[in-house]
Amino acid sequence: MNILILGGAGFLGCNLVRRCLKDEGHTIRVVDALDPRLKSTTDNLAEVMDRIDFIQGSLCDRALMDKVVADADVIFNCAAQTSHPLSLSDPFFDVEMNCVGNLCLLESVKEKNRTAKVIYTSSSTIIGKALNEVVDETHGEAPLDIYSANKGVAEKYYRIYHTLYDLKTLSLRFANLYGPYGKGYPEFGFINYFIELARTDQDITIYGDGRQNRNVMYVEDAADLLYESVKHDNVFGNVYFAVHREHYSVKKIAEEIVNVFGTGRIRQVEWPDVRKRIEIDDVVISAARLFYDMQFEPKHTLREGLQKTKEVYNQ
Ligand SMILES: NC(=O)c1ccc[n+]([C@@H]2O[C@H](COP(=O)([O-])OP(=O)(O)OC[C@H]3O[C@@H](n4cnc5c(N)ncnc54)[C@H](O)[C@@H]3O)[C@@H](O)[C@H]2O)c1
Repeated sequence: MNILILGGAGFLGCNLVRRCLKDEGHTIRVVDALDPRLKSTTDNLAEVMDRIDFIQGSLCDRALMDKVVADADVIFNCAAQTSHPLSLSDPFFDVEMNCVGNLCLLESVKEKNRTAKVIYTSSSTIIGKALNEVVDETHGEAPLDIYSANKGVAEKYYRIYHTLYDLKTLSLRFANLYGPYGKGYPEFGFINYFIELARTDQDITIYGDGRQNRNVMYVEDAADLLYESVKHDNVFGNVYFAVHREHYSVKKIAEEIVNVFGTGRIRQVEWPDVRKRIEIDDVVISAARLFYDMQFEPKHTLREGLQKTKEVYNQ
């Protein structure tokens, strides 16, 4: 297959590149903007660079998108502005990356290659605060920050292009991925940040009591899920939650990290005001619909995922 991975220098994208390379016979092209504001470099791809075709460029570049989508059998879109705080301090940048970029991509696919399968990596945070004990795809959307709002908007683009133009689109809503090549900065996913603090033997600061539940998923399971989704025609045209059954409190996740890495310590602090305002509180999500439709479940427990992450860092 000709596989195009957008945002392939990022955390999920570079793990997906490695997943695709495990099977023989694929041609893999990666496009990533490497925007300094998103703290992405090609370091994540260093040892696989000679096995892929890497292009530095943006989804917002229509000419580039026209060119790269034309011969792709599968397009995985892992490209996004992924910082919730940055989406608030620079909302227009978020619109450019998370709305305009997706529209450019879809227009190019519509014009140049309608048979390609296009998989969009969405986010569970588009729902805002959970109103039900267990959340599924019937839950409404009341996002609390610009990133989450724009991820939800882009999902609609994918559905519209499927309905209107028969594009084979699929949106998978991920949540709280962790593992190798994660960004260890506070503005990106909290689990990778906690891992970075633990492995460098620093304090892990938890806001409030840390009792709020989160689904967690090891990034290799997410990459597997994306890769396997291509084989299931029945899932295209849909939006699914793509989360692990496992969920733990933020405090428990931090404790597991400290246990597995054997370094770092937990400290509880008061909520910063902005963080409290965009906090989604307790949320437990079910991905039962996706697992039923794909006959697929993530494999790694939190402990196993953390142990594998530690092994990669030790190497
Ligand atoms: N990591 C998670 O826990 C998580 C949770 C929910 C959803 N997601 C979604 O998964 C996808 C990947 O997230 P991630 O954690 O790997 O983020 P990341 O920030 O590590 O990677 C995103 C990559 O996209 C690139 N990019 C951004 N805008 C671009 C553009 N316009 N053109 C080309 N490249 C661009 C960035 O340079 C970066 O390398 C995103 O769509 C994100 O919304 C991730």
